[in-house]
Amino acid sequence: MRIYPTFFRIVFSGMDAEKAHRIGFALIRAVDATPVGWGLRRFCAPDPRLATRAFGMDFPSPFGLAAGFDKGGKGVLSLTALGFGHVEIGTITGQAQPGNPRPRLFRLIEDRAVINRMGFNNDGAATVAPRLASARRRLAQRYTARQRPVIGVNIGKTKKVDLSDAVADYLISAKQLAPAADYLVVNVSSPNTPGLRLLQSVESLRPLLEAVRRTADDAAGRHVPLLVKIAPDLTDQDIDDVGALAVDLGLDGIVATNTTITREDLVTDPATVMSKGVGGLSGAPLKARSLEVLTRLRAAVGDRLAIVSVGGIETPEDVLERLEAGATLVQGYTGFLYEGPFWARHINRGLVRAGYSSARSAA
Ligand code: FNR
Repeated sequence: MRIYPTFFRIVFSGMDAEKAHRIGFALIRAVDATPVGWGLRRFCAPDPRLATRAFGMDFPSPFGLAAGFDKGGKGVLSLTALGFGHVEIGTITGQAQPGNPRPRLFRLIEDRAVINRMGFNNDGAATVAPRLASARRRLAQRYTARQRPVIGVNIGKTKKVDLSDAVADYLISAKQLAPAADYLVVNVSSPNTPGLRLLQSVESLRPLLEAVRRTADDAAGRHVPLLVKIAPDLTDQDIDDVGALAVDLGLDGIVATNTTITREDLVTDPATVMSKGVGGLSGAPLKARSLEVLTRLRAAVGDRLAIVSVGGIETPEDVLERLEAGATLVQGYTGFLYEGPFWARHINRGLVRAGYSSARSAA
């Protein structure tokens, strides 16, 4: 299956990155609807030895797809069929919005990286909620309880809503989406919605997370595990503060990290990088910082909550390194764009080969 990177270079690398994403995603969805989809599901199914527990739930693998790939919940069945133990849908906002003008997604191929300023383009909570409810029912029919992939739902703020009204906007999404979510993530770390990252300060985060938790649990009639997603650009002090707050609030976990606004240690020539403009950088250049944040966070929170580590994952060894550094689950996105549809299968098989066994579980 290592032919895909070559295939990618030939077919997709000359194409506008967002168009390539749209075509690739449409193909993945189309295949799932055919008899080939059934075979593919079996081919990519995670080995039972990878079954992992996190925030009180069973995950068929510790490795999942990070938020941003499927912003509307249209590909839950097909993406989980590729071997991801969970798929984090979103970011979804209270109101539908088109996102930033195109072009807004750029590859830095030599760096195995991507710059994006998508700006939360999505159909809005009211439209996505029934899609997710239906996907959840279908997953329950397809899989046994222990092998059922998990649906995470990532929520953010509608761009045109004032920062001072952010809580109410998050609550629209929490109320609509919590019933169809296995877990919920409050995203306060995208660099592409003006002011959003200011919500990472403890004074703003506490009331936001408390309100989202209350609303989500009420709407779903059960406890919906709640996590917060943070940026890699926080200072060490900020990381410690968010960790302490999450523990204090009894949150279920932290997703670390989102994309970075820095442009450090890139191979691509600076003029080319500059020409892409503003946006979040993801992929291989984020690897070291994401690991650093994980290590710092784990030291700060002990075993009191789960950490979902994301940023720069490419290989099974990268995933193992995160698990050994204290990650409960691991996610990736940019690696999927470069490695292709069998990436999750490759990671899962690598974990089994390395003798990884998920006797581990977390808070
Ligand atoms: C993202 N990411 C993201 N995160 C999020 O919480 N909500 C979102 O809507 C998006 N959208 C998005 C779009 C694109 C094109 C990319 C590349 C990324 C961030 C993503 O979930 C992840 O945190 C980072 O990309 C770091 O992981 P990787 O890509 O280095 O594995």
